[in-house]
Amino acid sequence: MLRALAGEALWPPPVWLMRQAGRYLPEFRAMRDKADFMTRCLTPDMAVELTLQPIRRYAMDGAILFSDILILPWALGQSLAFEEGRGPVLDPLRSAADLARLDPARVAEATEPVRETLRRLSRELPAATTLLGFAGSPFTVACYMVEGCGSREFGATREMALTDPELFGRLIALLTDSTAEMLIGQIDAGAEAVMLFDSWAGLLPPSQFRRHVIAPTRRIVERLRTARPGTRIIGFPRLAGVMAPAYARETGVDALACDTSADMAQIARMVPDTLVLQGNLDPFILKTGGETLRREARAIRDGLRGRPHVFNLGHGVMQDTPPEHVAALVEAVRDV
Ligand code: CP3
Repeated sequence: MLRALAGEALWPPPVWLMRQAGRYLPEFRAMRDKADFMTRCLTPDMAVELTLQPIRRYAMDGAILFSDILILPWALGQSLAFEEGRGPVLDPLRSAADLARLDPARVAEATEPVRETLRRLSRELPAATTLLGFAGSPFTVACYMVEGCGSREFGATREMALTDPELFGRLIALLTDSTAEMLIGQIDAGAEAVMLFDSWAGLLPPSQFRRHVIAPTRRIVERLRTARPGTRIIGFPRLAGVMAPAYARETGVDALACDTSADMAQIARMVPDTLVLQGNLDPFILKTGGETLRREARAIRDGLRGRPHVFNLGHGVMQDTPPEHVAALVEAVRDV
């Protein structure tokens, strides 16, 4: 996978899946009964085990660190809990006083268990398996911090961006710095490539997309390139649509992770040949399985033959996906 991320067109392409460690695996559910989600993220023994589960089962080419994008707001001092059936709940950040309570100086120490997890993983993983670190992009992390929970619209966040651009800009700047620092720490602890998840990038109009998605991502990429040259960076501006090629060009990421809605062949024509594409099978197709799964997976794979590609889904594995469908997908991608 590292060779593909460096721009080599491999055949068959390497494969891993977003949310490959998850509730669809019985061994994951068994661990779930033992500790809450935050404890699983912050206890290296558990996080190592959860990262390795899909590697043992499917020999994925990439192992993504078991953690969460919301560990950063928690490390900055914001309260965070994952509630059953509700997802993440944070103390909403709505004012300059709320912002002032965040403390970037806490992040390095609070995220030490994550780096310990990476150090152990880099010893335990087969050499051919690429260890991936990650973070949320500033905009998506800000969405959860301001809203205080998941949402379809993130109305409070988008309102703050428009009515108090100074405050919102300071939050984005703080997240940009902390994210770059945190990723440098992950790289030093063994992450061989990193991915930036911008799940809600597609909510923004073009002017705000440039300001809150492209510009901060470019700063993070520049910081990583200066501090740790050679690190491969994957960007995932979910639902960015026709803005995705501009994102790839202007941020300087090595790889563009495409969401389910993207026509990969069309994207491929809109970006430089050297840009690596990752994606983008619909997680519903994976859940459904059967001949459709094999046909659609191979259409994506075959359509990108000859250019650097990392096979993945367009979003995370759904929790009610039969584990044998994942095995069938990996087999369909690897069978040439
Ligand atoms: O991909 C992986 O397997 C690696 C680990 C990973 C998780 N979350 C584990 C997780 C990664 C890379 C993430 C990223 C993440 N987290 C994103 C961006 C990607 C995306 O899905 O759009 C976002 C928006 C989050 C925030 C988050 N974490 C939400 C909204 C939720 C609740 C919804 C849900 O699916 O439960 C989580 C919880 C979470 N993160 C779980 C896992 C395995 C489920 C928790 C559990 O098992 O109890």
